[in-house]
Amino acid sequence: MQRTIVGIDVGTTKVCTIVAQVADGGRLNILGVGVMPSKGLDKGVVVNIDDAVNAITASVEKAERLSGYRIGTAFVGVSGRHISSLNSRGVVAVQRPDHEITRNDVARAVESAQAVAIPTQREIIHVIPRAYVLDGHEGIRDPIGMSGFRLEVETHIVTGEMMAIQNLIKSVQKTGVEIDDLVLQPLASGEAVLTDEDKDRGVMLVDIGGGTTDVAIFVQGGVWHTSVISVGGNHFTNDLTYVLHTPHNTAEYLKLRYGSAIAGEPPAAGDEQDQIEIETLTVGEQQKISRHLLNQILQARAEQVVELIYNEIRRSGYEGMLPAGIVLTGGAAQLGQFDELMREMLGMPVRIGTPTDLSGLADSLDSPSYATGVGLLRWGARHGLGMLGPTHRSEERQGWGNVYERFKGWMREFLP
Ligand SMILES: Nc1ncnc2c1ncn2[C@@H]1O[C@H](COP(=O)(O)OP(=O)(O)OP(=O)(O)O)[C@@H](O)[C@H]1O
Ligand SMILES: [Mg+2]
Repeated sequence: MQRTIVGIDVGTTKVCTIVAQVADGGRLNILGVGVMPSKGLDKGVVVNIDDAVNAITASVEKAERLSGYRIGTAFVGVSGRHISSLNSRGVVAVQRPDHEITRNDVARAVESAQAVAIPTQREIIHVIPRAYVLDGHEGIRDPIGMSGFRLEVETHIVTGEMMAIQNLIKSVQKTGVEIDDLVLQPLASGEAVLTDEDKDRGVMLVDIGGGTTDVAIFVQGGVWHTSVISVGGNHFTNDLTYVLHTPHNTAEYLKLRYGSAIAGEPPAAGDEQDQIEIETLTVGEQQKISRHLLNQILQARAEQVVELIYNEIRRSGYEGMLPAGIVLTGGAAQLGQFDELMREMLGMPVRIGTPTDLSGLADSLDSPSYATGVGLLRWGARHGLGMLGPTHRSEERQGWGNVYERFKGWMREFLP
């Protein structure tokens, strides 16, 4: 049996809608892709609903035209500085007299992990079980059917500001599309570019987009740390416009065409190779720009991004313990030698992650920019309708669905 699912990545620079058929083994057959410039977003967050609605509508309509599929619901990515995450343990006594663990015990354990204080203006986006502990034995992935007295679960909880989440939900719903589930963007990207082996060994996913750098650290197969840093590819371009006094378009062109995160040795005096000639705003007038200066500007910003990434590794407590290293994705991962700079500065393996294993209209998705979009589909294929539950679909709903309905959704989503 095949079902059709849709992912909408509402990014800071582009909105990407992908329609795909999921085959039984989970394989994705891409039926349609609609990529349109984004509007109304700043650093991953909706700041103008009307603009965002227009951009999402254009992207959805394009994907519909290409696929011939009428989009009713979609998995949607969420990001922004308002996101925060924490790890929480839940504990329950096993209920059955013979001490065999049931789904119900697991559900109760996960529920008790959520009994942490979440400030009133925030809501929970994910509660993801990472591992179970049975009578003190750590690292159990699927406890159902095992026997024991005391079941603990380690979960990763992601929350976001209610208003930021509501504005994203509104922007999508106003296009006539209901939301199957909201997925934290780095978790979606991770679905597209990480292997199970990466996650088992210990890996960091880094998605550098236009407005934000989204990170997720996986250890022993589960998610341990997630964070959103408010610096992305746009900052590189803005730096160039300030320092080189070029228009934004020119700066973006220079970055894509000549940019490198490692400036290297300064050129010899009078080195013509170093000079890039570009048109200025005045017709017929040329401006000469030093390639080395261009890359020095980019390197300074790239180093800052790597330092911020390093801070997150330290914050996670897994410094020196991520043998699979960093998987770098997002559009800005394509900046020349960015991976090399990161490898040098952090002393870790770094590879660039691009979505793979797709059939159908897959060619257009062969870029790190589409990790989130493809990952939303993989998330949907793996977890199905998530936490939102039916309450989410009603216009009158208060907040983001009632907790019990959402909790039932989580159970469907994550129980082994
Ligand atoms: N070859 C390249 N070299 C350097 N930067 C690039 C290259 N290609 C794309 N970028 C940059 O990637 C950024 C866009 O990446 P992406 O499409 O992943 O962003 P987004 O998903 O819209 O934004 P976000 O995830 O931050 O909300 C832009 O800043 C763009 O300049
Ligand atoms: Mg993105």
